[in-house]
Amino acid sequence: MATLASPSNAPYMSAMYDFKPSANSDKAALHADLRAAATAIVAGESDPIANMANVAAVIWQYLPDLNWAGFYRLIGDELVLGPFQGKPACIRIAMGAGVCGTAASTRTTQLVEDVHAFPGHIACDAASESEIVVPIIHEGRLIAVLDLDSPHPARFDRDDAAALEALCAAIAPAIAG
Ligand code: SME
Repeated sequence: MATLASPSNAPYMSAMYDFKPSANSDKAALHADLRAAATAIVAGESDPIANMANVAAVIWQYLPDLNWAGFYRLIGDELVLGPFQGKPACIRIAMGAGVCGTAASTRTTQLVEDVHAFPGHIACDAASESEIVVPIIHEGRLIAVLDLDSPHPARFDRDDAAALEALCAAIAPAIAG
């Protein structure tokens, strides 16, 4: 369940966020909780970087078995590293390159059960075994991709893809800038 420890979201006031997944939630409930938390944490804030940073942190907190979670932003004609959780990662990715560039250029979610089998996969963390990348589109414009990596093969399935696509659609206005 997503809760705000402080009811105030006023600028400059300290709001302590107390988001945490409900105990023993099934996957659908966890996804619903995650989307509610992500939507709540960007509400009322217009800065795209701050919002991406908080959404990456919430994803990291809610979803098990991740070794990387974050954003690449479309700047000019390439993807540039945005806010994330995990090890330092490659900074610039060309459209069409790797899993991220493929998601961006095709505007379709890339669900990769085995990163070693994906042609052109860009290895930022040797621990990664599976990956999902969701394109984020706002008002018809590609603005970023959301990238999650896992140290487990086939960590992500179609339910994860659908849930993350819904999350990205919900937060797109808050990270469009
Ligand atoms: N594996 C990605 C690169 C980004 S890292 O996973 C953080 C890719 O192939 O595009």
